[in-house]
Amino acid sequence: MGHPAKWRPPLLKHPYLKLCQLLILASLFYFCSGIIQVNKTVKEVAVLSCDYNISTEELMEVRIYWQKDDEMVLAIMSGKEQVWSKYENRTFTDFTKNLSIVILALRLSDNGRYTCIVQKTEKGSYKVKHMTSVMLLVRADFPVPSITDLGNPSRNIKRIMCSTSGGFPKPHLSWLENKEELNAINTTVSQDPETELYAISSELDFNITNNHSFVCLVKYGDLTVSQIFDWQKFEPPPLDNLLQLWVILILVIIGIVAITAFTGSCIAHRLATRRRQGKRNEEGMDMEKISPILTGPAQASV
Ligand SMILES: *[C@@H]1O[C@H](CO)[C@@H](O)[C@H](O)[C@H]1NC(C)=O
Ligand SMILES: *[C@@H]1O[C@H](CO)[C@@H](O)[C@H](O)[C@H]1NC(C)=O
Ligand SMILES: *[C@@H]1O[C@H](CO)[C@@H](O)[C@H](O)[C@H]1NC(C)=O
Ligand SMILES: *[C@@H]1O[C@H](CO)[C@@H](O)[C@H](O)[C@H]1NC(C)=O
Ligand SMILES: *[C@@H]1O[C@H](CO)[C@@H](O)[C@H](O)[C@H]1NC(C)=O
Ligand SMILES: *[C@@H]1O[C@H](CO)[C@@H](O)[C@H](O)[C@H]1NC(C)=O
Ligand SMILES: *[C@@H]1O[C@H](CO)[C@@H](O)[C@H](O)[C@H]1NC(C)=O
Repeated sequence: MGHPAKWRPPLLKHPYLKLCQLLILASLFYFCSGIIQVNKTVKEVAVLSCDYNISTEELMEVRIYWQKDDEMVLAIMSGKEQVWSKYENRTFTDFTKNLSIVILALRLSDNGRYTCIVQKTEKGSYKVKHMTSVMLLVRADFPVPSITDLGNPSRNIKRIMCSTSGGFPKPHLSWLENKEELNAINTTVSQDPETELYAISSELDFNITNNHSFVCLVKYGDLTVSQIFDWQKFEPPPLDNLLQLWVILILVIIGIVAITAFTGSCIAHRLATRRRQGKRNEEGMDMEKISPILTGPAQASV
């Protein structure tokens, strides 16, 4: 357990390995159609069956190897179990149930073909007694896509975007209306190099003067997630109306200006007249002051 890196897969050294490889090749053809497939999602637990039982007494005489594609997962020799680092602390064998291995906290990198090989001693050497393969398919579920409004790239045209991320395997996105596929723009798929998870987004332009019901469909593996986007016909004011609006606006402005000018001139006029009247009144008072003099002769005449 201490030096898993130095622990070379014994299958590669063993004289029976060649036979093994041949068997694997043979089994590839044999199992190709009928291989057992286990479908799981990340973080779940997978139980992969070796489809073989041994008694407790036999345990000391057998070697059990579990390998994934061409890397070692687990080996049991003389009853001692060794787990390779990638599977350490999350993988164990269930001897009572078909020599199954149990893998906890599944990762996307656990995807692959797992092969179990059971060898038994016969006349001092180990011989392959049993071999079986299981296909493990680990996926990550995409959340329901979200649709966002990207505004209007031109008159009467609206652009929307559909996107989702954090899923596996590689997704495919399509826009549908009445079950017919539409032309999407800027569909991009990206993968996080660390987590191996995918993100996908796609844009769609549509004419806002019609009613629409779009479906954004994301397929991955044999699963799909989708989102619906409904649009209700929008009638923009026709160009004539727009022109009329402008004319009315201009007329109103002209009207306001005219009224302001008129009332302004009225006030000015009134002020001027008042000023003139004021002057006249002053003159009148002068006249009154003067009048006794003027009426002097009249008084004299009284
Ligand atoms: C192994 O043993 C289990 C439990 O006893 C049983 O259900 C299963 O059918 C056996 N498998 C084989 C391949 O014989
Ligand atoms: C497994 O667990 C042991 C003890 O908790 C720890 O020392 C070791 O680093 C773990 N290995 C891995 C690959 O996480
Ligand atoms: C063990 O294998 C047998 C025979 O293939 C199968 O019927 C049974 O369901 C398996 N049991 C477990 C626990 O995998
Ligand atoms: C696609 O996106 C790029 C960058 O966001 C943009 O420059 C380009 O115009 C877009 N293409 C279309 C057809 O909208
Ligand atoms: C939008 O649809 C209307 C009516 O179907 C059509 O008259 C108009 O030309 C369309 N606009 C564009 C930009 O395609
Ligand atoms: C568009 O939808 C609205 C509201 O559902 C409906 O009243 C109208 O008749 C629809 N127009 C067309 C052209 O289907
Ligand atoms: C597992 O997924 C594959 C494709 O993704 C599908 O063909 C197969 O039927 C699934 N198997 C099970 C047992 O659900």
